[in-house]
Amino acid sequence: MAVLVTGATSALGLQTALDLAAAGLEVVLHGRHAGALASAAARVAEVSGSTPRQVTADFAVLADVRALARRLEGPPLEGLVHCEETLEPERGETRDFHERTWQIGHLAPFLLTHLMLPALRAPGARVVFVAPLLPDTWIRLADLEMEEDWDAWEAYARVKLADVILAVELARRLGGGPPTVVAFDPGYARAPPPDPVVRPTRRAVRAAALDVIWLLTAGDVRYTSGRYYCDRREAEMAPIARDPALGRAIYEIGCDVLDLAPLPRAGPL
Ligand SMILES: NC(=O)c1ccc[n+]([C@@H]2O[C@H](COP(=O)([O-])OP(=O)(O)OC[C@H]3O[C@@H](n4cnc5c(N)ncnc54)[C@H](OP(=O)(O)O)[C@@H]3O)[C@@H](O)[C@H]2O)c1
Repeated sequence: MAVLVTGATSALGLQTALDLAAAGLEVVLHGRHAGALASAAARVAEVSGSTPRQVTADFAVLADVRALARRLEGPPLEGLVHCEETLEPERGETRDFHERTWQIGHLAPFLLTHLMLPALRAPGARVVFVAPLLPDTWIRLADLEMEEDWDAWEAYARVKLADVILAVELARRLGGGPPTVVAFDPGYARAPPPDPVVRPTRRAVRAAALDVIWLLTAGDVRYTSGRYYCDRREAEMAPIARDPALGRAIYEIGCDVLDLAPLPRAGPL
């Protein structure tokens, strides 16, 4: 069984793929450009001795994400790690008419995860959303796409909050799994505003990648669906991230927009 890593062409996604390969796990690399994906695959092959499977999809195109899920139908997956991200210089919309940060960082991963759920049914299968909760982040249900008041950093932070909310809500609906669904704060850039030019050190990225592998493989994590981790410990989640009413709303609005059949809630709130 393999682990699918999204955003595997850069920083944390690539390092996670390399460390998964070094640990002897099979990895499927996702990227949006075939060239970058081939370079990443060559790096992984140096570690594993064989060229990993590669899948392309631009998350700014929802049809691409659906096609990606169709290509991955069949053999079960052991894990799905979400490392995609975008920080947009100005407000723009995708051809699906969604605000770009929202679609690339939230709607597309939401869609991919939902479509891959049947492949993630093996005992112990896991989904990891790399999604740090940033201070003072809010989300306005009436304006999820920030049409009224857009700011690059707030758009990014809102996406990360929505991803954590989604992880918690999926855990509620999957009743503990499989798959186990967790959110993860890599912990290397907590203080806003982010400077896109300043990148985390290689050492910090390596540490975060090893934490992701721990989340995918540690026995205890399997029973902690819906939790939020940092530094291999459960981290406190802002109340807004585990608000059951907000979780229901974000999930059901997402399913509606993405034309997905919502899962029923399986257990207590
Ligand atoms: N960087 C930080 O300081 C920081 C801090 C805290 C948390 N995080 C989180 O950690 C995760 C990984 O961060 P990182 O530093 O590894 O980010 P990164 O180097 O910017 O990598 C982002 C990845 O997302 C991909 N991507 C961007 N737009 C896409 C699209 N339209 N469709 C599909 N893929 C797309 C990129 O592909 P291309 O190579 O084609 O651009 C790249 O592989 C993210 O979830 C991020 O929010 C990062």
